[in-house]
Amino acid sequence: MKNSAIYPGSFDPLTNGHLDILKRAAQMFENVVVTVAVNNKKTALFSGDERVELIQEAIMGEAWASRVEIEQFTGLLINFARKRKINILLRGVRQISDFEYEFRMALTNRRLAPEIDTVFLMPDEQLTFISGSIVREVAEWGGDLNSFVPDNVAEALREKFKKRTEGL
Ligand code: PNS
Repeated sequence: MKNSAIYPGSFDPLTNGHLDILKRAAQMFENVVVTVAVNNKKTALFSGDERVELIQEAIMGEAWASRVEIEQFTGLLINFARKRKINILLRGVRQISDFEYEFRMALTNRRLAPEIDTVFLMPDEQLTFISGSIVREVAEWGGDLNSFVPDNVAEALREKFKKRTEGL
């Protein structure tokens, strides 16, 4: 399908960096499918359903939200893309250190599915240091999450780590 793109990731949880990329993508494509990777072998902080719900809540009310779909997937991304008949994958690249991993992944996907290409987008420069792992660490120790994640995600993170941070 032309004018559709897949924006895949773990989104564990959604950050302001992801949101910035998603907004840019939704202004470029008529339909953006956010695909939340659910890998049973990896321990995630939030379940697939929770991650989908957090993304839905975070974009609610945005003018571009109607162009965004959110789905979970397990397995190879190219299989999901083929099933959806979408041949553009979007990835956010924050800094040079992201490139090695992203290039390897993009080229692996291209070897597996030559008809599918990866398009890289850059987030706002003020968001380039934000990552899921940094957010999880700040949340774990009760740090201020407001500039890292949308409000609903900050609330969900506080709830997740409530027991631990109460004693700090
Ligand atoms: O947000 P992340 O963790 O950087 O996202 C990575 C993700 C989920 C996009 C990637 O690991 C993925 O596509 N996983 C599914 C398995 C797959 O298709 N791998 C691609 C070949 S390397």
